[in-house]
Amino acid sequence: MADVSCNIKNLELDFSFEILSLFFQVFNYMAQAVSGFSKKSKEEKIQWLADTYLANDKNAISVLSQYWNSNEKLQKLHDDFIENTITNYYLPFGIAPNFLINNELLTIPMVIEESSVVAAASNAAKFWLEKGGFKAEVISTIKNGQVHINYFGKSELISNFFSEIKPQLIQSISSIEENMKKRGGGLLDISLINSSEKLNGYYQLHCTFETKDAMGANFINTCLEEIAKTFERLAKNHQPFKKASSFPEIALSILSNYVPECLVRAKVECSVSQLSTSEIDGQLFAEKFVRAVDIAKTEPRRAVTHNKGIMNGIDAVILATGNDFRAVEAGVHAYAAKKGHYSSLTDAKIEHGIFSFSIEIPLALGTVGGLTTLHPLVKFALSILQKPSAEQLMKIVAVAGLAQNFAAIRSLVTTGIQKGHMKMHLMNILNQMEATTSEKEKTVLHFNKNTITHSAVVDFINNFAKI
Ligand code: MEV
Repeated sequence: MADVSCNIKNLELDFSFEILSLFFQVFNYMAQAVSGFSKKSKEEKIQWLADTYLANDKNAISVLSQYWNSNEKLQKLHDDFIENTITNYYLPFGIAPNFLINNELLTIPMVIEESSVVAAASNAAKFWLEKGGFKAEVISTIKNGQVHINYFGKSELISNFFSEIKPQLIQSISSIEENMKKRGGGLLDISLINSSEKLNGYYQLHCTFETKDAMGANFINTCLEEIAKTFERLAKNHQPFKKASSFPEIALSILSNYVPECLVRAKVECSVSQLSTSEIDGQLFAEKFVRAVDIAKTEPRRAVTHNKGIMNGIDAVILATGNDFRAVEAGVHAYAAKKGHYSSLTDAKIEHGIFSFSIEIPLALGTVGGLTTLHPLVKFALSILQKPSAEQLMKIVAVAGLAQNFAAIRSLVTTGIQKGHMKMHLMNILNQMEATTSEKEKTVLHFNKNTITHSAVVDFINNFAKI
């Protein structure tokens, strides 16, 4: 008995010691934490960073300042995009020419760090240019958002209430909608969805919108918050809820980045014989290609990488045109899993001697508002694309994804991916090694005929290129 009580005492002591040390740790972190940080000037922020994390390394500070723009107005514009900006982060802005899309020849701007993406897009564009190019169509442009509701009362009370007040909900956003309506957009409909079988007490107001050339996130969220406020206010005075002492409450209101009703399709096709090259017979190539897509349709592990390749093309155009690549990524991947398992976003088939390859993806994009009117390079990218409408941009982006997937699968089923990848990556290795122009030339020439690996390049530079 004495032993047990002694053990309990020890446990209590250990426990109080742990709490005490946790308290001191938190106290210590609080003392170190910086306050009022966002109010500091850019220089003060950098100095704090250098003192706190970089042992006041002057080199690190000068790296930051190297990336500042000498045009103060332009720099201020970039500083103001986010909070606590300390410098600019460059990504290469490349262009992929020769994209024939619905009989219009376009050059596609791409912002991406991965060395082979623009080259692959350009190759695919050229390949299909000679075969009639890409065809793309927008299937629908409806966006959506939800007011998520907690309600634990009788379902007929909330559905009667909704039917009664629906016109007032629509009316409540009339001033917010005014400009959007002038452009042909606005709220399309509101419906009440009872999801209480999936989650106890969970209902939603599912709202659909047309936002024309705007991505529409701010518009949709403002509408949803106003609809939510009106809903809650009217519910408080609704007699049946009062009588039952059970009122619906708003959990949250937000647009959805899953936009399966904002859909675009792009396609290429040609006769199988047109796919023949000096390296491979057209029929064999087409069969290998279709098989590769079928594998991605079947096996999620392959599908993720297959779709990642598609997103190489899509994200690059999304970034160049100032759109929200996180929203697009989230929505596209959800769409890839729409049948209950994650699958390929593209489809390929051979029918009556015709090879066809297509993509269908949800894309909520904007060509007005947001960064599109602010960022000079975004404006430039949209100018290259001949100032597209949101629908035109949807088609271009879908084509960029399809082209990228075509290039990847073509390499995968023929030469393997590394040949092209390493060729493009060679320059990164040479730059890492600070090779001179003549060393670069010699090395590139040598590796035209030899397999590129990091160690082979290092070895070649150290032993031959310097000679
Ligand atoms: C690399 O960024 C993309 C690929 O892995 C895509 C694919 O495997 O289809 C080459």
